[in-house]
Amino acid sequence: MITFTNGRAIGYDDVGSGVPVLFLHGFPHSRALWAPQLGALATPARTICMDLRGFGESAPGEPGGVDGYADDAAALLDVLGVERAVIAGLSMGGYATFAFWRRHRARVRALVLCDTKATADTEAAREARLKMQALVTERGSMAVANEMITGMVGRTTREKNPELVDELHRMMSLAPVQGIVDALDALRMRPDSTPTLATIDVPTLICVGDEDVLTPVKEARAMHLGIAGSRLEVIAGAGHVSNIERPATFNHVLSEFLVSLTAQ
Ligand code: MLT
Repeated sequence: MITFTNGRAIGYDDVGSGVPVLFLHGFPHSRALWAPQLGALATPARTICMDLRGFGESAPGEPGGVDGYADDAAALLDVLGVERAVIAGLSMGGYATFAFWRRHRARVRALVLCDTKATADTEAAREARLKMQALVTERGSMAVANEMITGMVGRTTREKNPELVDELHRMMSLAPVQGIVDALDALRMRPDSTPTLATIDVPTLICVGDEDVLTPVKEARAMHLGIAGSRLEVIAGAGHVSNIERPATFNHVLSEFLVSLTAQ
């Protein structure tokens, strides 16, 4: 589906009823990343996936960094009449989730941080973002997909599920160039969210694949230590996109977490 906020198109899906969960995808994905979660949780949930600005069916806007992604998410919740939601972000979507918390915390029922980290880019990582911007501008999204696909999934997925690797590669190669360029700025300039961790006082689930090489388990443990009362789940046999590599385990963990919310 497509809606318009501030005159800009936002692509989204909205399936089911129950506790609203808004899913924010990683880089350079689209809301299709969350297909295994959409309407598929054991707990009654309203599963909402959106394309971040410049990806999928969402139009690019003024480059707004991770704050822009967070504000678009809040605007979509407005359109859908959702006052408070569980915000679930994977990797870049996790960086946007931290921004959402800083900017719209009254709207957060709980947080789910998947295969992401609190820390900002190192100098070397910032340099790499600039190089990737040159790459995508000169050679297109396929070149980015080619460069990123190996690290995107875990060893187990590479060995046992080549069809999924192809599907992810296709999703990444379809990402619009402008969306990628703007996202690389958002990634490069995102603030360090480490000081944010201690401010989080809502139930928080942290998930990470044990084969994630982009945001490894030690980053998840650091967030777990920093967020009081948070729950950490390490998903075996998954890499950086644990929700799609191990959907049954991921959905089980997420459903249990949602049940624990309704019990509170
Ligand atoms: C992502 O999956 O969103 C990216 O790998 C995040 C990053 O490069 O920092």
